[in-house]
Amino acid sequence: MRLDEQTRRDFPILERIVNGHPLVYLDSAASSQKPRTVIEAMSQYYARSHANVHRSIHTLGEEATELYEAARDRVHRFIGAASREEVVFTRGTTDGINLLAEALGRTLGPGDEILITELEHHSNIVPWQMAARDRGAIVRAVPLTREGLLDLDAVDRLLGPRTRVFAFAHVSNVLGTITPVARLAERARRAGAVTVVDGAQAAPHLPLDMSALQCDFYVFSAHKMLGPTGIGVLWGRRAALEALEPARGGGEMIKEVWIDRARWNDLPWRFEPGTPPIAEAVGLMAAVEYLEKLGMEQVAEHERTLARQTVEQLGAIPGVTVFGPPATVERGAVVAFGVEGLHPHDVAALLDEQGIAVRAGHHCAQPLMRWCGVVGTARASFSVYSSPEEVSLLSHAVASLRSHL
Ligand SMILES: Cc1ncc(COP(=O)(O)O)c(C=O)c1O
Repeated sequence: MRLDEQTRRDFPILERIVNGHPLVYLDSAASSQKPRTVIEAMSQYYARSHANVHRSIHTLGEEATELYEAARDRVHRFIGAASREEVVFTRGTTDGINLLAEALGRTLGPGDEILITELEHHSNIVPWQMAARDRGAIVRAVPLTREGLLDLDAVDRLLGPRTRVFAFAHVSNVLGTITPVARLAERARRAGAVTVVDGAQAAPHLPLDMSALQCDFYVFSAHKMLGPTGIGVLWGRRAALEALEPARGGGEMIKEVWIDRARWNDLPWRFEPGTPPIAEAVGLMAAVEYLEKLGMEQVAEHERTLARQTVEQLGAIPGVTVFGPPATVERGAVVAFGVEGLHPHDVAALLDEQGIAVRAGHHCAQPLMRWCGVVGTARASFSVYSSPEEVSLLSHAVASLRSHL
């Protein structure tokens, strides 16, 4: 049975009728929908076990702490981390990158360099600009080839003795380009730079194994992988996390506090000040269980097939431009496209009239939009419940849009 046939009934929201049509939700890269098990796990937690974690001796406090830490164990196994101490809960990808930019930023000096790429989401650009600005450091970017892949020759040229951080996406949220993380991390290590990988568009779709990826830090958001909003993961190689001075203080991240100084808590709590997103951790654990039952290899294969079908079908429509690598190159679960003569917002609004949800705009990647030579694009993106029939509905609807001109 196809993956969407196995999963569809688990997602109550997919039963919605939108503008008189059954919902065709093709905006999972912005945020995925949630299976019933995630929704129920969170409401059960609030109905039965809620209390603050790591501080109360009473039964509910212990139950909440057990659940929160069980979520960490589940994530640790899901991403192939060497130990649970390497898994830090954050508020999401953006929060994880900011945490790193704040902490690593403090170690930068004037003239130091941060290397990013031209296909980054603003979340992996702006925090580094802020860190650089505060320390007199410089942000540089790896250019793209004509196909929308990273220019690997340029990586070697740009990774120099002043490069302190190399931050790049595992999968582009616009082009769907998959970057060769292990190769890039290896080159960065040789240059003495720390690698930060933005896995927001990879964790929901690809099997992950941190030991194989070889990077120092990897961040992602739960809400794009069937889990709730408000929680994300920062994985760090133990030595890299130990070398990082916390930049955010508060309760729970300390062992002992005096008026003029404090001693940090152990990993991973030293990077989790304040009350964490507990119900969200419970939801993330349920999402990971759901994905593990399906098998990430099957998830990746299902979405690869949908992306290929979309590139081929949309690419065959006159006046439609598909951005990113050709169908023959493996890509992530997103396909950005433009319709000649129509603004991307109009494309999205007209599709919405038929119940089809796609995203339109600059996708928080304005430097990449400049590279594409457009102000924005429409974008279809997939998850485990997306079907080939939905892709065909999209293609027919896009083909008929040209009649609106
Ligand atoms: C590649 C990439 N990085 C970062 C983000 C930011 O994720 P969040 O808004 O969950 O922090 C996104 C979200 O669309 C993304 O696609």
